[in-house]
Amino acid sequence: MRIGIVGATGAVGQEIITLLSERNFNLESIRLFASPKSVGKKIKYLKENLIVEKIKQNSFKDLDILFFSAGSSISKKYAKIAQKNGCYVIDNSSAFRLNKNVPLVVPEINSETLKTNTRLISNPNCTTIISLMAIKPLMDLCEIKRVVATSFQSVSGAGNTGIDELIKDTKAAIHKKKFKNKVFDRNISFNVIPKIGDFESNLFTQEEMKLQNESRKILSNKRINLTATTVRVPVIRSHSISLNIEFTRKVNLKNIINALKEFKGIKVQDDLDPNLYPTPHDSSNIDDCIAGRIRIDYSQKNTISLWVVGDQIRKGAALNAVQIAEALRDKIR
Ligand SMILES: NC(=O)c1ccc[n+]([C@@H]2O[C@H](COP(=O)([O-])OP(=O)(O)OC[C@H]3O[C@@H](n4cnc5c(N)ncnc54)[C@H](OP(=O)(O)O)[C@@H]3O)[C@@H](O)[C@H]2O)c1
Repeated sequence: MRIGIVGATGAVGQEIITLLSERNFNLESIRLFASPKSVGKKIKYLKENLIVEKIKQNSFKDLDILFFSAGSSISKKYAKIAQKNGCYVIDNSSAFRLNKNVPLVVPEINSETLKTNTRLISNPNCTTIISLMAIKPLMDLCEIKRVVATSFQSVSGAGNTGIDELIKDTKAAIHKKKFKNKVFDRNISFNVIPKIGDFESNLFTQEEMKLQNESRKILSNKRINLTATTVRVPVIRSHSISLNIEFTRKVNLKNIINALKEFKGIKVQDDLDPNLYPTPHDSSNIDDCIAGRIRIDYSQKNTISLWVVGDQIRKGAALNAVQIAEALRDKIR
């Protein structure tokens, strides 16, 4: 496989490079692309020093799989060109996620939608992936009527500049200095911001609508009612989501926990005795999402609450994209 990464210097691009080496992807070659400011920069891949290139019209000619992680406008500009050159495109942006002909894939959930004759595949929104890693095994156990999701999303969800802004803002606040926020709508240090993406005409934010619309597409379930509030918090890495799930019939807590334990890609950390529950620190830099605080919601019939954390740069973006590439590689071979 000859691989390319557009956005190779970014939070997701860097993680894709790490994962390709960690998982022995068996590459023939790898080429890296970023914005003009990074052209010529050296990035280590195993023992090689790779040079970041500028994207040109003929850049994608000799590539088999191309990861896009440079935002929607770059994907819209170059993804078609890459496909015309015969590449499989795995896109991390939201540009094509809801297009009818573009599979939106979480390999553990809907790998059957991945076909070798489809050259463009979308990677879902990070909060959607992590939420669905907990929702899917429960949906297989019992029909779900409604989900109320509240997310606590780390600053690296906004890329490397998000991390930089939290650190600088926090230092300024500690020294009682003013800090002018650029990435986030408000100062993020010692704060939480209940707005990710722009507001839509229905008063939800873009991030909240992604969670609703993408979940329905991935689960192939238009009947599932999901409502979300998505919140940015001053955490560097890993998103957390509080889920309140109403089923169509009574569920048993033991069966819920077993269903989560048996699902590939999620583990359970939930025990009162050693005070065990997962936080974003526990899921950072690991592949699995972690569920905990699993309990019956006594305020309403057939309902449970739980908490799930996941590394949104890994499973929420880079790992999911690499898993898609691995599935494609295995189908093509
Ligand atoms: N961060 C997450 O947790 C996450 C999760 C899911 C999906 N995503 C999606 O993944 C994509 C990348 O996000 P990120 O967090 O990695 O962002 P990031 O850290 O800001 O990185 C952006 C990357 O895009 C490159 N880029 C910017 N303008 C470009 C141009 N004109 N031509 C070529 N490359 C250009 C940047 O290159 P320079 O370094 O040269 O500027 C950098 O490599 C976005 O679509 C985002 O929505 C991110």
